[in-house]
Order: sequence, then structure tokens, then C-alpha cells
Amino acid sequence: MDQNQLKQAVAQAAVDYVLKKVDADSIVGIGTGSTANCFIDLIAKHKHLFQATIASSEGSAERLRSHGITVYELNAVSEVTIYVDGADEANARLELIKGGGAALTREKIVTAVANEFVCIADESKWVSHLGGFPLPVEVIPMARSHVARELVKLGGDPVWRENVVTDNGNLILDVHHLHPIGSACALEEKINHITGVVTNGLFALKPADILFLATQNGIVTHYPTK
Ligand code: 5RP
Repeated sequence: MDQNQLKQAVAQAAVDYVLKKVDADSIVGIGTGSTANCFIDLIAKHKHLFQATIASSEGSAERLRSHGITVYELNAVSEVTIYVDGADEANARLELIKGGGAALTREKIVTAVANEFVCIADESKWVSHLGGFPLPVEVIPMARSHVARELVKLGGDPVWRENVVTDNGNLILDVHHLHPIGSACALEEKINHITGVVTNGLFALKPADILFLATQNGIVTHYPTK
């Protein structure tokens, strides 16, 4: 199977899983990226089985609406039943790097509200140590250079993702050369404490609850190791 077929397969596994968890009152959180897009397209025909969705980006919201799926603002709900999203890297603790699609802040907000975070990825995303994928950091525009200098002090090599403005009107710095990240929780906290950082793409303090990984031998289900 090629990478696209793996993404389709893992998205279908997530649809099957989600349908067992939802009822007519459920709100389904939907992530961003090509794997999340496969999930959107596949869950569309089951839209009558849940109440509505919350999207982690304007792009996903638009795709959901194009299928006739209701999208609510997060502030309009008190609970998100389940959240499904892709990742750029995942380790055995189900700590993730996300933000390749620049939607990391809204993704992190939806995971904070969701009762369960289901990550879906193809096997190319599975790593023993995070940091091979440059770590995205969302920054307030006027703080870009300050944050970049602070990230250098942490041993990283930040590169401004030019021509990208997030849905929140901010900028992205991609931090290279952090591999191997030792304590992802500690680094997530440290970077979030730099003034001018909105958030960073480490999802370690609140990792995924379950990961469906598409491999050439089928879908492998991972739960976080200690
Ligand atoms: C977007 C993300 C995506 O989940 C991540 O980039 C994976 O994308 P894809 O499914 O296209 O490989 O974090 O901000």
C-alpha cells in the first residue's frame, strides 16, 4: 500500500472506532491535515449518527461543511466527546509532534476539551525519539525574533515558515536539530514559557489516548506506555 492508501485505511479504522463511541448528542472534534481529511470524507456518510463537529482549523471546517456536516464554535459546547487528528511524529508514550499544517494551537485547544484523543497516522510517523520533524512553534508576530533567539538558547535552530499566517493571525517557527528530544513534557513547558509563544507542537503533557497506526501488515492499535 502507498502512503495515501495507508491514510485511507487508518481513517476508516478511526471511523469504525468513533461510531462505537457516539450517540445523537455527541460532538466530534476533527483535526487538520491529509489524514484528518480522509477521516472527514469517510465519516460524512454517518453524519446523522452524531450531533455536530468542532474543527481545529478553518480548512477542516470548510471541508466538513462541504459534506453538509454541522460545525459548531468550540465556545458553544461544554464537552467534546472524541477528537480525531493526525500527527507528524508519535512515540510509544503517544507523545506527538504536530503542527505541520500550522493548526497546532487550535488542535491543542480541542484536545484540552475532548474526553478522548484518537491519533491516526501511517507508519512513517512512528519514531523512537521525537524531534526529527522540525518542531512547530506558533508565535505572536512582534515576538518572532525574540522567540527565535530564546529557542537557539535551548539548542534549536528555528526557521521562520515564511508566507504562512495561522488561523489565529500568528507566525510559525519550525525548530530544527532538537532530535533526540529527551523529556518532551519538560521541553513543551519550557518553550511555552517563552514570552510571545502561543504554543508549541509538542503534545506530551496531554498525549493521545489511543493511536491507530497504519502499517503494511494492517492497523496496529497503540496505547501509551508509561
Ligand atoms: C496539522 C497537523 C497534522 O495533524 C499533521 O501535520 C499531520 O498531517 P498529515 O495527516 O497531512 O500527515 O498537526 O497542524
